[in-house]
Order: sequence, then structure tokens, then C-alpha cells
Amino acid sequence: MGNLANYIGRQFGNPRGAAGWICCQVMNGINRPMYRAALALLEIAPEDRILDIGYGNGYLLRQIDRAFSPELYGIDPSEDMKTLAVRRCKRAARQGRLRLTVGDCCALPYEDGVFAAVTSVNTVYFWPEPEKGMEEICRCLRSGGVFYNVLYTREWLNRLPYTRVGFRTFRPQELAELGLRAGFALAEIREIVPGKNFVVVYRKE
Ligand SMILES: C[S@@+](CC[C@H](N)C(=O)[O-])C[C@H]1O[C@@H](n2cnc3c(N)ncnc32)[C@H](O)[C@@H]1O
Repeated sequence: MGNLANYIGRQFGNPRGAAGWICCQVMNGINRPMYRAALALLEIAPEDRILDIGYGNGYLLRQIDRAFSPELYGIDPSEDMKTLAVRRCKRAARQGRLRLTVGDCCALPYEDGVFAAVTSVNTVYFWPEPEKGMEEICRCLRSGGVFYNVLYTREWLNRLPYTRVGFRTFRPQELAELGLRAGFALAEIREIVPGKNFVVVYRKE
């Protein structure tokens, strides 16, 4: 059971092949309140550029596309997830509004100040250098831009058998402070399901 749980945990952080596909489908089902929370908070115009960190199979990107039709960017280290996300976001791809990169959010390949908003759902646990990732996101946001960082609480994750290896968990306040150190002017914590998941909303001055 230990090995299987570790294998599943690794798939969440680094989804690949058929197992990665299954893990993403499961995530899409159980994480709906988290995607909904991100969408409800987003304020963007069609001409804006938005970046989703760790887009997985593109579930949130497609929801954002349906709601706002903006310029959609994403970065994720998994080549397999890029294939799935392009397939899922067909309309944006056809209209030339989808730009997905295989890479790491701690070294973003974008110029300064280009995004109106950045989203991340359940990815911060896997960033190799969380403070560097925050600095990079802040650098790429325009003035007044917002980063929505959606995640599960440490208490919730610690109950699950597959989060023992490869997950770094955070307290809300710790993540808020990390963002302020990385250059954000404001960091506000909003609960989604109390005790289970939350969003940290960071605003750049
Ligand atoms: C638990 S999945 C979440 C996928 C998607 N955000 C969702 O909620 O459906 C975590 C995702 O983060 C990606 N990821 C892991 N490390 C990353 C990094 N350093 N930078 C960007 N994405 C990363 C993984 O490849 C994976 O697709």
C-alpha cells in the first residue's frame, strides 16, 4: 500500500502517461470547488493575458476560456499534460489564443509585466523553490495584476496516504508572507471549504 500511495502521490506532482491521465480526471472531479473559487474571483478582459501555473490536463484553462476568451498561457513540466491540455482547449488553440510551455514556474520564460492574472490550483506543493516561483510570478504580472494561489490545507493533506512523499504543505499565513517577501503588495487569505482548502490572493502594486 505504501508503494502504491507513493506512486499515486508522484503522479499528482508529475503526471505522465495513462496513470497521469487517470489522476487528472480524478482531480477534475474532486477539485471542482477549487476551480469554481478561482473562476469566481477572476476579473479579466478578453484582451488580457492570463497564465495558469501547472495546468495539468487544461481543465481550468478551458473554464477560463469559456468565461472570458482571453489570451491563455500555461506552464507545466509534463509534456503529456501539454498534449492533453491542447486537446481540451481546442477552441482557444484554433483561434490562436493558447500558448502552452513545458517548463518550471520557478524560471518563467516571459517578459516582465505581461499578465493581468496568474492562477495555480494545487501546484505550489511541488515547486522546487516556492519563494523563487512567487518572485517570478510577481515579475511577470503587470501593475495591479493578481495571483490566485488555490490549495488544500496542511491538515487536510496530512490525512491522505499519498501525500507523504513529494508534497510540501503550507499554512495559509506562511504562504501569504512568502508572497509579500517575493514582492507582492497585498496577500489576502480566503477559505473555500473551511479547514479543507483556501485561496491566497496576491496583488502586485
Ligand atoms: C496536482 S496537479 C494539478 C493540475 C491542475 N492545476 C488541476 O488542478 O487540475 C499538479 C500540476 O503541477 C505541475 N507542476 C509540478 N511542478 C511544477 C512546477 N515547478 N512548475 C509548474 N507546474 C508544476 C504538474 O506537472 C501537474 O500538472
